[in-house]
Amino acid sequence: MDSIVARPFIKWVGGKTQLLPELTKVIESMYDFAPIDKYVEPFIGGGALFFWLCSHKQIKSAVISDINEDLILAYKTVQHHHHELIKSLQVLETQYFASESEALREVMFYEIRKLYNQEKIEFNYGHVDTELAVSRVAKFIFLNKTCFNGLYRQNSKGQFNVPFGRYKTPKICDSANLVACSKVLSGVEILCGDFELSEAFINKHCLIYLDPPYKPITKTASFTKYHRGDFNDCDQVRLANYYKRIDQLGARIMLSNSDPSSEDSGNKFFDDLYSAFDILRVNVTRTVSAAAASRKSVKELIIKNAGFAT
Ligand SMILES: C[S@@+](CC[C@H](N)C(=O)[O-])C[C@H]1O[C@@H](n2cnc3c(N)ncnc32)[C@H](O)[C@@H]1O
Repeated sequence: MDSIVARPFIKWVGGKTQLLPELTKVIESMYDFAPIDKYVEPFIGGGALFFWLCSHKQIKSAVISDINEDLILAYKTVQHHHHELIKSLQVLETQYFASESEALREVMFYEIRKLYNQEKIEFNYGHVDTELAVSRVAKFIFLNKTCFNGLYRQNSKGQFNVPFGRYKTPKICDSANLVACSKVLSGVEILCGDFELSEAFINKHCLIYLDPPYKPITKTASFTKYHRGDFNDCDQVRLANYYKRIDQLGARIMLSNSDPSSEDSGNKFFDDLYSAFDILRVNVTRTVSAAAASRKSVKELIIKNAGFAT
């Protein structure tokens, strides 16, 4: 198999593929062509920037984490057991495409979703046997590739509740990319938990990218639930305090978030929280309703700590 550039192995809401040119410009301004000693990303999600950096820049070491247990189990399984995972995904893919009608594929989707949710009740993420991990992660990736818009949403009991996606030919098992991701993840420290957990790993040699769940900017904006807990304004304030502490350690920090002032010019929530830092406003196109046609250009924020120029 030819070696390819690793890309996110799952589709993740809030993924940063679209913002990559802006984010990488900021990083270039901080590092030029120098290697990054330690890269830390505590809201890893699909890892769009992480995978991009691993194939375009030299990163000596990395720590990635997220609060979503199934997402982190997937990263660890890709890291250590990608061969077994590929086999398991190929079985699901074959079964899916052997179902000739969309109705049968839909039945299979809901069966896998039910098994996945039942399994979670007793699942011990702290002590996972390889076979169980591989089987669960294969279901996780299968659901991600075949559900509506690749969304990840959980109800208050932590049960995955996204409906069937009606794609004609979803790529359920991308073997070449899983192999490439496994290579990139080799030696990376992968942790599950709240973002504050990463503080213990941070020193002045680190680059930290913070991409928390965005603050909803309109009253009607649908709130993405990546986890049974919400990420509310208190968490945004807690994150700003963490940002200030790691800034004091001398680390280089970049954070992205929505820009509430683009909808309500008087709303200076982030301008106030991050007044000591450099706030850039960038244009992105976002889907504002379920209809693909209703996309609009909005501003988003990239907040970096001072001491280097863009
Ligand atoms: C906007 S997404 C990150 C997207 C990612 N940058 C990408 O390219 O796909 C935010 C992530 O934060 C995670 N998260 C939510 N609350 C958290 C918390 N308190 N600590 C750490 N991670 C959290 C979610 O599970 C989600 O994966």
